[in-house]
Order: sequence, then C-alpha cells, then structure tokens
Amino acid sequence: MNRIYNFSAGPAMLPLPVLEKARSELLDYNGLGMSVMEISHRSKAFDEVADRSEASLRRLLSIPDDYAVLFLAGGATTQFAQVPVNLADPDRPGAYIVHGSWGKKALVTAERMGLARLAASSEDSGFREIPAQSSWNIPENAAYLHYTSNETISGLQFAEPPVTSLPLVSDMSSDILSRPIDVEKHGVIYAGAQKNIGQAGITVVIVRKDLMRDLPSTVPDLSSWKIEEKQGSRLNTPPTFAWYIAGLVFDWIESQGGVAGLARVNRQKAALLYDFIDNSDFYINDIPARFRSVMNVPFLIHDESLHTDFVAKAEAAGLSGLKGHRSVGGMRASIYNAMPLEGVQALLEFMSDFEQSSG
Ligand SMILES: Cc1ncc(COP(=O)(O)O)c(C=O)c1O
Repeated sequence: MNRIYNFSAGPAMLPLPVLEKARSELLDYNGLGMSVMEISHRSKAFDEVADRSEASLRRLLSIPDDYAVLFLAGGATTQFAQVPVNLADPDRPGAYIVHGSWGKKALVTAERMGLARLAASSEDSGFREIPAQSSWNIPENAAYLHYTSNETISGLQFAEPPVTSLPLVSDMSSDILSRPIDVEKHGVIYAGAQKNIGQAGITVVIVRKDLMRDLPSTVPDLSSWKIEEKQGSRLNTPPTFAWYIAGLVFDWIESQGGVAGLARVNRQKAALLYDFIDNSDFYINDIPARFRSVMNVPFLIHDESLHTDFVAKAEAAGLSGLKGHRSVGGMRASIYNAMPLEGVQALLEFMSDFEQSSG
C-alpha cells in the first residue's frame, strides 16, 4: 500500500484508522451480513449509527441539550439557502460579513431570495483581511449575523467568533472540529463533511432549538430544520454511508485527545508552515498573521512561472492536491485534522529542495 499525503482542500484526506475500520466492516457490518450502505435508514442498526455519531459529536463540541444536531444532505451550499429560509423574513433579513468567496456565495444566495444585507466585506482588498468589527454596518432589523469561520480559498480564519446580540450563524465547513468552539455563542453552526467530518455528501447543522420555527406550507419540507429534527434527519433517505463515516471520524477524534488534542497539533503544523514561508525569500503568503488560517495555507513563489513545475514535482513526490484554487492561483496546503505532522514536515523538506534546485 502506498498512501500519499493529500493536501487537497476537500474532499480531503481521511485518517487511516477510519478507512481501515470502514474496510473491515464493508462486507459485513456488525454481523448483519451486509454493509452499512445496504441497510435501511429506518432500521435499528442504522438508528444505532445515527445515535452514536450524534452522541460523539455532542461530546466533542460540548453541544448543550437545547441545540438540535441535524445530519442533512446537500452540502454547505444547500445551507446557504436554508439558513435564510429558516431564520429570515423580507423585513428581518440576515446580515453577512464577507471575507472570502464562500461568505460571498452565502450572501448572494440569500440576497437573491430578498433575505440578506451585506454588513461588511473585504472584497476590495482581494479578501486579504477580515473587516474590523468597528466598520460593520448591521441593519437594526437583522434576524441573524452570518460569518464564515474559515475561508478555505484565501486562507483567512476568525480567531474568535464575532460578538453580537443577534443569533450568530457560522459556516464552519473548513474548520469544524479543528479547535474547541463555544457552541453557545452561536445560534446555528453548519459544515459540509468533506474536510474534517468525513466523506462528502452529508452536512452537519447544529441549531439552537428556539430558533427553529414552522415555515409556510409553500416551503418544501426538506428545507425545514424543524421538520428534519422531528424526523431524526430522516425525512427522506439520507447519505447513510457518509453519516456512518462521520461517526468513525468522531471516534478517531476522541482517540486523539478530542478537539483540544487536535488543536495543539493543528497549531503546530500551521506554525511550521507559516514560519518556513515567512523566513523564505522564495515563497510568500501575504495574509496578515492575525487573520491566517490554521487549516488552509495558500502560498506563491515570487517567480510565478515556477508554480506549475512545483505542483507537478510535488505530486510526483507523493504530495498531492497542492494546486491553489483557480480563482487565486499559486499553491495551497490544506492541513486539516487528518494531515499528520509528518505530512507537513515532508512538504517543508520538498519546498526547501525545490527552492534549492530552482535557485
Ligand atoms: C467554507 C466553505 N463553505 C462552503 C463550501 C461548499 O461546500 P459544499 O461543496 O459541501 O456545498 C465549502 C467547500 O469547500 C467551503 O470551504
């Protein structure tokens, strides 16, 4: 077996013990003589998968009882629409802080429905900063404040959740479970799975129960968090295997000392990479240190003609997925929970060798 280091922004690498466990149970889950993929989402066996994964996630993030935990299909992009549908009205729009492409997409989706206002944006700076809270212009009638905890493309992360009296809604797709968070500061947290939760196809939505409301009958039931909660996230057939994989990932996180244990390693990995880049005259990352993401580290080479060669040689050296997002170019190392410290060390060694061979 030849496993490589996968620095892709998502779908991202999964912990090896998770893949091994899934493989060992693939043909015969729990003595049932079939795989999780083949069992009914309404069976007792799947109830156990669902209950166990929810209980683990509640432990990992210390989610209080007055919050519902939903496992839904459709990715974080679906939640860009479901957040305003469930929380806003035309006379009570959501307010959005935009410091990257994902926050902008969330805003535009809600705006098209007539349910959003822009409170602050750093687009003018090319998304190189998080707008200072003193500059935010939040409408008085806002129903909630939305922010993207970590902007995956430009590599900017909120160090702390914003302080507000409004229900705070966060897209945590690319940093959930990477560090301890205070769920109680939030009204809603949502995250697609394919970075730190597991396999693409399932989305975790954590909602304070008092924010869930009945929606007009013109809104499809599948869009209603309240109906999904009543149905145990199984109004229709959910992505069962992705849900099962999420449970295995949660078990793995617990075995790593929980979110606090992973946060220590994550900080170490990011510090190694940023220190190396900052001490180099060859590579650059021009995001101010206080905004830098611990999960996604974009970087350029001063001589941009070397980017293609860098990515190709890295791939050949077993360091995959380093090509930057098409909107920003260059390179990006996504170093989510499953990326071991050794993977970052291997990348630094490669970066150093590449610099020397190009000099
Ligand atoms: C921060 C963030 N939000 C939303 C998305 C979109 O997620 P999905 O493809 O699951 O809809 C991504 C995707 O990578 C992301 O990084």
